[in-house]
Amino acid sequence: MTRILITSALPYINGVKHLGNLVGSQLPADVFARFCRARGLETLALCATDEHGSTTELAAAEAGQDVAAFCAVQHAQQRATGDAFGLSWDYFGRSSSPQNHELTQHFARQLWKNGFLDVRTSRQVYSNADKRFLPDRYVIGTCPHCGYDRARGDQCENCTRVLDPVDLISPRSAISGSSDIEIRDSTHLFLKQSEFVPRLREWIASHEGDWPVLVTSIANKWLDEGLHDRGITRDVEWGVPVPDDIADGALKGKVFYVWFDAPIEYIGCSMEWAASRDTPDAWKSWWFGDAAKDVTYYQFMGKDNIPFHTVGFPVTLMGAGEPWKFVDRLKGFNYINYEGGKFSTSQKRGVFMDAALEILPADYWRYYLMANAPESSDSNFTWDHFAGVINKDLADVLGNFVNRVTRFCVSRFDGKVPAGGTYGDEEQALIAELDQRVSACAGCFEALEFRKALAELRAIWVAGNEYLTRAAPWTAIKTDPARAAVGVRMGLNLVHLFGHLAWPVIPESARRIHAAIQPAPDIIPWPKEAMAGFLEQLTPGQPIHPPEVLFSKIAEEQIAEWKLRFGGS
Ligand code: 2FM
Ligand code: ZN
Repeated sequence: MTRILITSALPYINGVKHLGNLVGSQLPADVFARFCRARGLETLALCATDEHGSTTELAAAEAGQDVAAFCAVQHAQQRATGDAFGLSWDYFGRSSSPQNHELTQHFARQLWKNGFLDVRTSRQVYSNADKRFLPDRYVIGTCPHCGYDRARGDQCENCTRVLDPVDLISPRSAISGSSDIEIRDSTHLFLKQSEFVPRLREWIASHEGDWPVLVTSIANKWLDEGLHDRGITRDVEWGVPVPDDIADGALKGKVFYVWFDAPIEYIGCSMEWAASRDTPDAWKSWWFGDAAKDVTYYQFMGKDNIPFHTVGFPVTLMGAGEPWKFVDRLKGFNYINYEGGKFSTSQKRGVFMDAALEILPADYWRYYLMANAPESSDSNFTWDHFAGVINKDLADVLGNFVNRVTRFCVSRFDGKVPAGGTYGDEEQALIAELDQRVSACAGCFEALEFRKALAELRAIWVAGNEYLTRAAPWTAIKTDPARAAVGVRMGLNLVHLFGHLAWPVIPESARRIHAAIQPAPDIIPWPKEAMAGFLEQLTPGQPIHPPEVLFSKIAEEQIAEWKLRFGGS
């Protein structure tokens, strides 16, 4: 049996994440992790805050806090918000952990020893007003590729191209806003990425077909445009220090670039996880050598992260010359837009995770975002669409079904699973349809096709509703009580089934649905048996507990209020 390793792109430490961040990484990773656990697979799901670098220093300065203290607070907040969203990581670590510091230095030493690092003098942006170098996000200017005028020195948010601060047109300091800027020389470590092009091409080609086209096309484009050696150190303070035994201390006082140490934290985080359980070596069998041969490794990320995971991090692993585990299935996402524009952290545009939970339970968001995941193209969040989906799929189709069946059972069958009658043609037809749909749904989750998986889930709920309309136990009860008993018994078995199938996506609601029938286990398993068996499980006479309202409909006035609060057309 294979073990499943899952990592989500690590959220930057600064600030609460918006729903666009969530849908491209942490949420699908969690849904998939839950699905794997529900299938009985040994699963290790990891995430952490990405803490180093210029962005963090800037954000801490803006908050008037010491960087380490700032990170500690922000990490705790992100973990709490993640918990509230039902993100069920086995460990939520920190890229600033001692484990990651040590491991990052280990990789650098290996790369140095193997001759893949060079000390080079490179041109860096220097601010006379701030009396310091301005790496990465310390510089803002116009993107030379797309003309976006708020591009950051490391990457253009608009066209996703990775940049060098010296390439920006009309650069200005993010600290002081000053454009009194000059180019000076500074010494840095360069990773000789260009030497890895043939190996990278071969590795990426071996995944054509099992990675989304979005991923392989971004990776290949990156290589086609010519892979340059990349500076992996920076003139900032907050980061993993370059050890003195590399280049005879020539890089004293410098730290590694955040994009060098952040992906290493995927492994570092597993060390934190192992340490937290008092089994300090337990991480190894997930990552290293023959012990990890039975592991299938899944990564989840937004499209701007794809180059760093198909090129940057693999070069680190290849260059280390040790048997590290590489990603097997890399799932990349497009962007979700907010009311026709961009979600933006810097411009505080869109809905952020904490505010989302202030207005509605996590499951509403989880369902909507996964049902509209930006897989084949960008998708668009609008309040009207959101309300339409919740009111229809969750309130009318799922919630109403559970409500109708369980309440009817209480009013006409004493709140107990009715005995009497046997499944006939109607039931057999439904069972056949569900057999096909449940396995199609599982297949979509396995293939990481979330929109399709959720469309199947919804189709299963619809099939249940249609069955109930045909069986119409509320009519049958007057003339044919046995027939009504069959309809209600099947209906209750369907409620039980829905509780099982919905758990990866809407875990809290799934628990409540399941609890209408019987107490839910911590992990609600995906049905192992065929539907004929699953849908005959409930024992006649067992008590039923109708839930309170599962999903409240979103009212026009609420939409109007939220549009006002969050901005929207
Ligand atoms: O884009 C981002 O949000 C980055 N913090 C993702 C890092 S992923 C990994 F490499 F750490
Ligand atoms: Zn651009």
